[in-house]
Amino acid sequence: MAHHGWVVELDPKGLTPDSLKSPFGRLFAARDHEYDSLGISFLAGALGPMQESSLAGLPAPSPAKPANPAGFTFLGQFVDHDMTEFRVVGDDLKLIESNPVIAKRQRVLEDVRRPEGTISVTTTNGRTGKLDLDSVYGLLGTAQPDLFDAGGNFRLHNDEDIMRGAAFKNSRLIADPRNDENKLIAQIHILFEKLHNTIHATKSGAPSEIGPSGPIFLETKAQVVAAYQRIVLHDYVPRIVRAEQIDAVLEKLEEGETRYQAMNARNRHLLRELGLDQLDIDATVAVPVEFSHAVFRLGHSQLRNGYLLRSGQPGVPLFETNLGGNDLRGNKPLNPGGGGTNFLVQWRHFFKLVSTNPQPGNAIDGNLPNSIFRLPPPAIGEPPVSLAERNIRRGVDFGLPSGQIAAAEFSTTYGFIDPTPLSILFPDPIFQPKAEVLERAANLQWETPLWYYILKEAGAYTAGPQLGTVGGLVVAETLIGSIVEARLAQKRLEDPVGFNEEAETARIVGDIRTERSTLNPDGHDIGSGPLSFSTNPSDHANIFTMSQLIRYVGAN
Ligand code: HEM
Repeated sequence: MAHHGWVVELDPKGLTPDSLKSPFGRLFAARDHEYDSLGISFLAGALGPMQESSLAGLPAPSPAKPANPAGFTFLGQFVDHDMTEFRVVGDDLKLIESNPVIAKRQRVLEDVRRPEGTISVTTTNGRTGKLDLDSVYGLLGTAQPDLFDAGGNFRLHNDEDIMRGAAFKNSRLIADPRNDENKLIAQIHILFEKLHNTIHATKSGAPSEIGPSGPIFLETKAQVVAAYQRIVLHDYVPRIVRAEQIDAVLEKLEEGETRYQAMNARNRHLLRELGLDQLDIDATVAVPVEFSHAVFRLGHSQLRNGYLLRSGQPGVPLFETNLGGNDLRGNKPLNPGGGGTNFLVQWRHFFKLVSTNPQPGNAIDGNLPNSIFRLPPPAIGEPPVSLAERNIRRGVDFGLPSGQIAAAEFSTTYGFIDPTPLSILFPDPIFQPKAEVLERAANLQWETPLWYYILKEAGAYTAGPQLGTVGGLVVAETLIGSIVEARLAQKRLEDPVGFNEEAETARIVGDIRTERSTLNPDGHDIGSGPLSFSTNPSDHANIFTMSQLIRYVGAN
């Protein structure tokens, strides 16, 4: 079906949660960078300069750059799946189940403003762009009521695994099957289901009150989401964004001067113009493509080739197709019994719970572990098999700006940002043997793909495990901004007449600052603070860290 601008053709009533309801936006104007295709394959393919390896000639793990405890890598993947799931909408405005082959230019809501006439919408977010755990509760909270028992508890197998079997869609009972993509994110997912069940167990009421969608159920859900948002704000973000950048972003949020806020203002305006502003508040909280298709893929650099799950048991590889399933790929029971490996983790190996330190993840530095250069199915459906190459090509498809452009644009808001120098982006010892990369695609050096840029930029910052400036600003504007934006949207909805955006913003940012200064005076690492945490039922309101959450639900 041809469109003459999609406005006329769109039936807003047809825009279910599955289609356009939750848009992507842009922090920066779209750019058509063109790169030599083989140059990108060299840069990001197997045995290339991004592959961290003990093999001669390839980069070794960087000892200079500290890393966070390994559990935060998978909390990050969990946050990613709560915020963003790139889906493709075809010309007939129906969702296309699988992503099209990489290298097809994707458009986002804002691009419909482009003047050149016929344009179809080609992408939408399958998740709400809010930190609201729709990946755990299902869209709208209870779109999948079979996730819960009649008492409003998540149904779990033996209180330790998700329910599996042919009776369930995709052979498992889980709101977002991506959260069972590997056995570590699956267990983070289960922790949040257990948090719900633990809080809910302290309450009583008629089935209509405590069951799915009942008022007491919704109260429990709000308490779980509140604990999760505190963890993201105070335990997760400070581990990947430097304190001074968080403070700078809070200041700009308060003044309404972030690019994230400008993006959402543009989206709201556009939705109004298109007559789509009745959708609901999810439509007004967009996710920047720079975040989902480049910067927040930072976690791919934090992955290790394998992990220690339990004391006294050998480490288990992340992906190893030759081991008959003895690896961390998902969609398999966590504790199969019958002499098989027990994949249930002891959390002390992933988060700080006892006096010994958990295993670290990898640093965010642009050197990726071997196993993700050849992703096994079903992690991906179509080539390329290198996750690094997919990330760079996806960024090009979405018209993301280069790292250098992002640095220059952010400079107008945050003061001058030095672009990361060539010696760091393309260090000689690695690139000399690979000189053909830069010969083929010389513009990679001054129009460096955003994802590659923010990883190398982070690698150069060795005083802590966090990102460099451009990466840190995109993450802080998006994650903190989404909390502010969602709270504002709720207020706007409740009281459209009395709503005062400036005053409300100041109040919300003020609350975050107060929590932050009480909890987190040195700016990071509160998770390794006091090891004691009482587990009174009412203590869920005091959960600010993953370590506290784990203690609260009685895991170890
Ligand atoms: C074993 C671990 C992981 C695997 C196998 C994995 C794999 C993938 C794959 C195959 C994609 C789609 C790539 C494409 O075709 O564009 C993807 C997207 C993504 N990944 Fe990962 N990933 C892992 C961990 C992580 C972590 C730790 C983070 C962040 C902290 C992360 C953040 C993202 C983001 C933000 C996207 C884009 C999501 C979207 O909007 O659709 N991933 N990942």
